[in-house]
Parts: sequence; structure tokens; C-alpha cells
Amino acid sequence: MEKLKIIGGRTLFGSLEVQGAKNSVLPILAASILIDGESRIRNCPALKDVDAAIQILRHLGCKVSRFDNDVYIDATTLSKNDIPETLMREMRSSVIFLGAILGRTGEAILSMPGGCELGPRPIDLHLSALRSLGAEIEERNGKIYCKAGALHGGELNLDSPSVGATENAMLAASCAEGETVITNAAREPEIEDLQNFLRRSGVRIKGAGSSTILVEGGGRHDLSHEIIPDRIAAATYLAAVAAAGGKIQLRNIVPSHIKTVTDALQEAGCAFDIGASELIMHANKPLKAISPIITRPYPGFPTDAQPPLLASVLCGVGTTVFVENIFENRYRYVDELTRMGANIRIEGRVAMVTGVKRLRGAHVGATDLRGGAALVVAALGAEGESLISELHHIDRGYDGLETVLRSLGAEIVRIEDLE
Ligand code: UD1
Repeated sequence: MEKLKIIGGRTLFGSLEVQGAKNSVLPILAASILIDGESRIRNCPALKDVDAAIQILRHLGCKVSRFDNDVYIDATTLSKNDIPETLMREMRSSVIFLGAILGRTGEAILSMPGGCELGPRPIDLHLSALRSLGAEIEERNGKIYCKAGALHGGELNLDSPSVGATENAMLAASCAEGETVITNAAREPEIEDLQNFLRRSGVRIKGAGSSTILVEGGGRHDLSHEIIPDRIAAATYLAAVAAAGGKIQLRNIVPSHIKTVTDALQEAGCAFDIGASELIMHANKPLKAISPIITRPYPGFPTDAQPPLLASVLCGVGTTVFVENIFENRYRYVDELTRMGANIRIEGRVAMVTGVKRLRGAHVGATDLRGGAALVVAALGAEGESLISELHHIDRGYDGLETVLRSLGAEIVRIEDLE
């Protein structure tokens, strides 16, 4: 079994270019199905979730090739409209293909995505959005059968601003006859990136970034698109340097996308110099406790940045409160941090973190992607050696995590442990 071996306590210094956003590239790979021709996707990170999405595209009959960070998809040869259970299990967010397959072929068959590490992940909002556009959907024997003779535009109000449901609605609406208005849409930067991809292909769509998105369909020709920087990877590297102490320059970022995170770290005592597409952060230990961190849909504090930030204040002076509003099982990684000597009390959605003088390295296992990142952050700030297992979670979302951290001076290697 592969493990990460980290000797903590080294201060981190250096400069790095942030990878392309996982949560942008996945819906955009799904959107490539709609293109009657070739999509070139630039700045595509090398991630397990991207590999899983490419497997789905190939299963559907698309031709996909990859050269470094450029992925080319030719969807003219698409010949299937189902995603088998094995591929759905590889990546729970593959439900994002539903709207695209339905839009392109008029029919889609997916097995149910099931629960995930963060708790039950229902898809009711995805299905009701597609129904509003004329899809007939049946769920039987663990499968979703989705049919639409012709999708039609319409008014579609999401009960809550789900990122995935907004993306599915945008994809299906791009193929619908007439105009669609999506209200209470998610406002995440990745939604705007999907809009930009669709626009480049000729789809008339506007409003992403606000709560109302207007889609008129059209176009869908060859295009080239560059994925936006990954705001959660950026937040994770900032948290790592905050925990270990040091100085980091992040290049290829959109500072406004991570403002809630940089504001929190500034309050904790880190100093920032923020430019147009880069920033420098100085971190001197110990950090200070900060005002409550409450996760909310964008532009609120991102749920995905909660675990790494929490890990960065474990040795802070005082108590910091975290409130998790998006996913119910988001604190599973906390037990592992406790094994490193962290003082964290959980009460439902609330985690109270009281700073300790020092953390000590331990053998811990990643429980999910961002929880795994939190363990890496904590291990970098801890004394002694940590061994982190269950790396398949971490590899879903970080392109070359240990290479990046080593370039900053961290003592981190991936080892094959026969235990
Ligand atoms: C996306 C991100 C994920 C991030 C999350 C919230 C991708 C690939 N993943 O996930 O990293 O943590 O946004 O920012 O982009 N919900 C329902 N019914 C639905 C859909 C969602 O009840 O039909 C609930 C979910 O259980 C969750 C909340 O709504 O509690 C937010 O989920 P959503 O915004 O849909 O997240 P994802 O798109 O799954």
C-alpha cells in the first residue's frame, strides 16, 4: 500500500504555479460531449478524477488524447448513452454527465451514484431540473432512466444552489429548444468557467456568477478552452505554509476566488502581498485563533477549504470555531488529527479547535479528499514522522502533491509499505 511519509517541522519557502481546477475540468469534460467536433482543454490537471472522466468519455465512444496538460476530445464518434456502475463508482460526481448525455442523445441511463465519504449525496435537484426541461425520469433497480424526445427551455428554480445541479441544467438547456432561465443557481467560479467553455462553442448563455443564468442554446462547434486555477488547491498550499511557517508565492491564481481563505489566514497573523494573478504569503508561527469559519455556498467560505484551514490552526493560540453547513459527514478526518495530538471538540456541525503547543507525527489514514489534505497540512506542522495511508482519496484532487511540497522544502516521500 502506498503511503506518504512526512517529517514535519521544516519551514516552507518557494514559488509554485497552481494546477487547473478539478471542479471546473470535470463538468467541462462532460460538456465536451455536446460539441459537434473537437474540444481542446488546456491546463487540465493530472488527477484520478480526470482519468475517470476520460474513461467515461471513451466508454461513450469519444476519442480522447492527452499531451501534457492539454486534453483533446472528439465527440463526433459518440455512440453510447449509458454509464455503467463500475465507472459511476470510480467518481461519484459522474452524475454531471447526465445533462450532457441527455442533451446530446435524447436519452441517458446511469446507475445511481450512491453515498460518498461526505455523507449521502442526493441528486433530487439534478433530476427535478432536468424534468423542468422536459425529461422523463424513472429510477428502478439502482438505475436512472432519463428520456426526452426534445428538451424544451423553461423556468427552472433550484430549491438550493447546488453546484452539480446548476451544471447539469446548463448542459441540458444548451441543447433545449427555446430559452431557459435558471434561478437560485450556484455562483461558484467553476460555473462561470463552464459558461465560458459553452460560449466559446457558440452557445448563447449569460449570468453565471450571479443567481440567474439565461441559456438560449445554439452553436456547439470546435473550441479551445483554458481551465481556471484551482482555488481549493491554492487554499491547501497556503494552509500548508501557514501550518509549517515560511513564505510562499502562488502564481496562476484568481485572488478574489480565495478571498475568504486569505482573509482568514491574515486574521491568523499571516501577511499577504496580493497581485492580479499571484500572491505572496509570509507565515510566522504560532498563528492566532480566528473568528468563526462558517462554510456557505460561494462567495461564502468554501466547504472544501474547511479541512486544510482547520489543520493549519491546530497549533494556533486560542480557540477557533468552525461551522459546516454543506456536508454532514465533513469532520471524519478529525479523529485522525486527534491522534496527532490535536484538541478538537465536535458538536454536530460545529468543531471547536483549541490550539496545542505542538503536534506529533502519527500513522493516520485519509478519510476523503480534503480530509486527506488536512492530514498532510497537519503532518507538515507536526514534530517527527507521519505516515499517511489511503492516498487514493488525495490523488483524486492534487496534481503532484508531494513534488509540489518538496519544491517548497518539505520532507515528504511516497513509499510502498508492505504492511
Ligand atoms: C461540488 C464540488 C464539491 C464541493 C461542493 C460544494 C464538484 C465536482 N464538486 O459538489 O467539491 O464540495 O460542490 O461546494 O464540483 N444536494 C441535494 N440534492 C441534490 C444536490 C445536492 O440535497 O440534488 C445537497 C448536497 O447533499 C450538499 C449540498 O446540496 O449537502 C451541496 O451540494 P452541491 O452543491 O450539489 O455539491 P456537488 O455539486 O456535489
